[in-house]
Amino acid sequence: MKLKDWRGVRALVTGASSGIGRAFCERIGSEGARVALVARRADELTQLAEQIRAAGGEAFVLPCDVGERDACFATARRAEESLGGIDVLVNNAGYGHHRRFLDWDVEDIERMMRVNYLGSMWMTKALLPGMVERGRGWLVFVASVAGKIAPPEESAYAASKFAMVGLAESISVEVEDAGVHVMVACPAVIRTPFFDAEALARMPPVSRKAMAEPAEMVAAMLDGLARGKREITFPRLPEMGYKMKAVAPEWFRRMLRRTTIDALPSIAPTRRDR
Ligand SMILES: NC(=O)c1ccc[n+]([C@@H]2O[C@H](COP(=O)([O-])OP(=O)(O)OC[C@H]3O[C@@H](n4cnc5c(N)ncnc54)[C@H](OP(=O)(O)O)[C@@H]3O)[C@@H](O)[C@H]2O)c1
Repeated sequence: MKLKDWRGVRALVTGASSGIGRAFCERIGSEGARVALVARRADELTQLAEQIRAAGGEAFVLPCDVGERDACFATARRAEESLGGIDVLVNNAGYGHHRRFLDWDVEDIERMMRVNYLGSMWMTKALLPGMVERGRGWLVFVASVAGKIAPPEESAYAASKFAMVGLAESISVEVEDAGVHVMVACPAVIRTPFFDAEALARMPPVSRKAMAEPAEMVAAMLDGLARGKREITFPRLPEMGYKMKAVAPEWFRRMLRRTTIDALPSIAPTRRDR
């Protein structure tokens, strides 16, 4: 189902305080959507809400840690009460790290799964029934290229995003006939605080140069929704990798190894001491 006109559309966006989520809210707010802003930092959300209202839009501030199940359900309920229902859910809140699995703290692996995957699942569980009842809705899952291809030192992050993509693909077929459209959006490299100084320093110069702006990512997402697409990747280059992985998995794995472990001194292979 295509979403071309945002006037009066009721949306809940997680991770609204920064980066892609913030740019998404600014854009749809300016196009007439009524937006529920969800993230942990209430001050950032309040400032964004004021900005959206000053531009003539409507915004509601709902601080929430999406890594907490009860908080997700309570926030979804408050959003439905404030807006009279939610038409569009954008599951965007998330974070990542680069670590070897052997060095990755188990607490952080579990926390990443709760924030990146379970938070999306809980929000979807809370808001999808209303969409099905009304026979109209859109679920947007902001996953990652790492939800399609899992490079070394991204195990926990990739696992959380693969889980999200699996959830989205399955739900997509289940609810299509009920009038609910599901789209997965995979950002490649977008210039946001997602990349801290350490992540930027280890990024290959070619990727740093290819970084896109959040507003461009948002434009690609809105274009995808307007065309009824089920998956988008932006910038589009990694789509080639998905196809190669599907048709020549061993060759693709060798390429992945050559361009990561074998090329980057920061990622040394794990070896057995003899
Ligand atoms: N930037 C990229 O190139 C890139 C690439 C692939 C995937 N992505 C995905 O895109 C999404 C948005 O990332 P971004 O690049 O816009 O990064 P960002 O600027 O760091 O924004 C992340 C957002 O997630 C929110 N968030 C984090 N933990 C949360 C929690 N426990 N509860 C509620 N909100 C939480 C943050 O808000 P608070 O801190 O206020 O809670 C913030 O609003 C993420 O899911 C990320 O994995 C980004």
